[in-house]
Amino acid sequence: MQIKVEHLTKRFNDVTAVDDFNKVFESGKLTALLGPSGCGKSTMLNMLAGILPVSEGKIYFDDEDVTDMPPQKRGVGLVFQNYALYPHMSVLENISFPLEIQKVNKDERHKKAIEMAKLVQIEQYLDRKPKELSGGQQQRVAIARALIKNPRLLLLDEPLSNLDARLRLEMREEIRRIQLETKVTTIFVTHDQEEAMSISDSIVLMRDGVLMQEAAPQELYDDPKHHFVANFLGNPPINNIQGYIDTDGCFMLSDKSAKIKIAIPTAKAGEKVILSIRPEAITIDDEDFDFKAQIVERYTMGKEELAILKVGSSEIRVYLSRDYDCKKGDIVNVKLRQKGVFLFDAASGKRL
Ligand SMILES: Nc1ncnc2c1ncn2[C@@H]1O[C@H](COP(=O)(O)OP(=O)(O)O)[C@@H](O)[C@H]1O
Ligand SMILES: [Mg+2]
Repeated sequence: MQIKVEHLTKRFNDVTAVDDFNKVFESGKLTALLGPSGCGKSTMLNMLAGILPVSEGKIYFDDEDVTDMPPQKRGVGLVFQNYALYPHMSVLENISFPLEIQKVNKDERHKKAIEMAKLVQIEQYLDRKPKELSGGQQQRVAIARALIKNPRLLLLDEPLSNLDARLRLEMREEIRRIQLETKVTTIFVTHDQEEAMSISDSIVLMRDGVLMQEAAPQELYDDPKHHFVANFLGNPPINNIQGYIDTDGCFMLSDKSAKIKIAIPTAKAGEKVILSIRPEAITIDDEDFDFKAQIVERYTMGKEELAILKVGSSEIRVYLSRDYDCKKGDIVNVKLRQKGVFLFDAASGKRL
């Protein structure tokens, strides 16, 4: 089922939590709703679920206007960060509970619950109570419970936040597998860019209730339209240098401590800009280079070989293979790649 929101807005007194949101969530796809804490992700999800009334705008499930439809009629499955399982019920009873409310007979609801337990691979724990399960297993039960009514839409609000790092990795792959198997239209809320990048067909990035950009994960990373987007994605984070465009078209650091040759023709002389460089977007090249930099530090983190380079008064963190024969203190010639180097207007944050 396709979800469409038009001019969707939610105000709490003086806070506009969701601000004039327009978006189509594609049928059968997993969309990540990504953004920093407090940007309005949960508010958005709760309006889709019908738990929160909208202030303005419309919500459509396919062609049906569901803006004022009560939650229980929407056919939505919900999973939250805290699994909210019933502690006194077994796994089987927890999963089948939504069908009990619908007065489905016991045999049938247990049959369906076992089917769901198999889907989320928890069928060996049917008789256990939630407290006898790990966090990851509890979240599997919560997902099975959300799926048992064959929801038209699955909404997941930071479902992995309570899990430790290794389990998060495992569970996000599981959620993706379950989503691909059931093909249920899914919206997955997270503040974790890596989680969003790894799990979704498409990412919607929000800031202060506003949709900043939506795209497939790699496209959002490769082609950010706004400085906020470039900054939010990437680990190690993108490097930002403040400056302006000089009369010769080069980038000059604000304090004139260095000049960088750039091949971005859209910027006008005198314009205040931010030059943003992804850590992987440089090479060290003797012949043809864009600027000189001093190696402040070289270090290895796991398999990653990194360096801090000093460019005028700024420092940037970049990937630098140990194959390069240079050491701390050396001055090197740095070449910028085409990909992963951006200019943003310093005032508006828009990409130039
Ligand atoms: N019930 C509420 N009453 C007042 N303000 C709220 C309420 N719920 C959320 N907000 C505010 O709305 C904004 C968005 O919150 P939320 O949707 O929970 O963000 P997120 O899920 O992205 O962290 C925040 O500023 C939050 O303080
Ligand atoms: Mg939230």
